[in-house]
Amino acid sequence: MSKPLEGIKIIDFTHVQAGPACTQLLAWFGADVIKVERPGSGDVTRSQLRDIPDADALYFTMLNSNKRSLTLDTKTPEGKEVLEKLVKESDVLVENFAPGALDRMGFTWERLSELNPKLIVASVKGFSDGHHYDDLKVYENVAQCAGGAASTTGFWDGPPTVSAAALGDSNTGMHLAIGILTALIGRGQTGRGQKVAVSMQDSVINLCRVKLRDQQRLDRVGYLEEYPQYPHGEFTDVVPRGGNAGGGGQPGWVLKCKGWETDPNAYIYFTIQGHAWEPICRALGKPEWIDDPNYATPQARQPHIFDIFATIEEWLADKTKYEAVDILRKFDIPCAPVLSMKEIANDPSLRASGTIVEVPHKERGSYLTVGSPIKFSGLKPEITGSPLLGEHTDEILAELGYSKDQIAHLHAARSV
Ligand code: COA
Repeated sequence: MSKPLEGIKIIDFTHVQAGPACTQLLAWFGADVIKVERPGSGDVTRSQLRDIPDADALYFTMLNSNKRSLTLDTKTPEGKEVLEKLVKESDVLVENFAPGALDRMGFTWERLSELNPKLIVASVKGFSDGHHYDDLKVYENVAQCAGGAASTTGFWDGPPTVSAAALGDSNTGMHLAIGILTALIGRGQTGRGQKVAVSMQDSVINLCRVKLRDQQRLDRVGYLEEYPQYPHGEFTDVVPRGGNAGGGGQPGWVLKCKGWETDPNAYIYFTIQGHAWEPICRALGKPEWIDDPNYATPQARQPHIFDIFATIEEWLADKTKYEAVDILRKFDIPCAPVLSMKEIANDPSLRASGTIVEVPHKERGSYLTVGSPIKFSGLKPEITGSPLLGEHTDEILAELGYSKDQIAHLHAARSV
């Protein structure tokens, strides 16, 4: 089966998570992704949080599958020459260095587009160009704080809280992938490449869209009826942290199930969808609530919402999270068990769909990774192991026209 991005060559000048997540996705879909890494050390994640001495860490292997690795010191004249040749032959260069690093290396946007006017240059930075913080280096949690996620996550009586989901890193990489694919289509129309820039702050803000919705509602009416603070608590002039409240028009909460005293994940998420009230009452054995004016409408229920959740927890007390969901699904109630990473790793449905995959690695043996979350009817992405540092250096140099002697010279000069 041919892959849609076959024939697209990408210089992957990325490191850590945000950039690698983007280029990994493009590699799954067929692009030839050449990871350019510093000789000797490579991407810092190769050695961060290692679980096997001297083998690439999972942090690296899980973000760099399906790529080739070229070691290149792009600060030496020979290294710069190799990069220039590569630029001339490539479609996209992706980078997520600190602000100004690519310019300091001598590869400004002007220089790159002079070398190859069709090149798309895609960058991740912490803040967008011209922002008053645009000189800052940024990691995941910094972006979550600057993007509004932390101030709106957690419980009202606790501090701002970051999410375990990589809203600043992988999410930014996904935004960048969309930008790159758009620029590739644009190039088909104009014949020219362009600069694609995504900031981690902006990508987090994009996912916090509904919190900006809430700020404007709060400014206008002074309260937010779906938050736990309503109607018994106080609102200030900023969107509060809402704990586990549902973010849309459907109240919901994380509820305890059988075994919660010892199992930290014996919970389900339960949603009270407006039109599902009747089936919820029937499932809970509370038919008298169906027409009770204190419960019959979402507005009537809101002041008692935590009493309702407490009643549901009583019903859940003798049911495991799986048993509860199996009953509730029959009543069409939106709910799910709270799954641990261990349960996700072993979930047969996730294995069958290719979302959790086991891939071989030359040094580690096999490891689990997250496969493509995007499913196609005409493409089944095959996830391969990540490359060893410099595994494809000679192969890529030969493709660029370097002779065996020239390659040996580059090695001797430690430029590759
Ligand atoms: N050959 C020679 N030099 C190389 C090289 C190569 N193959 N690859 C990288 N370098 C150099 C860079 O040119 C830079 O040199 P300079 O500082 O002299 O200009 C240097 O390595 C370090 O790069 P830098 O990006 O500053 O790394 P860092 O470890 O100090 O910072 C980040 C890491 C992630 C904080 C920073 O890169 C950053 O803010 N990136 C943008 C936002 C982002 O993507 N954050 C991470 C999300 S996971």
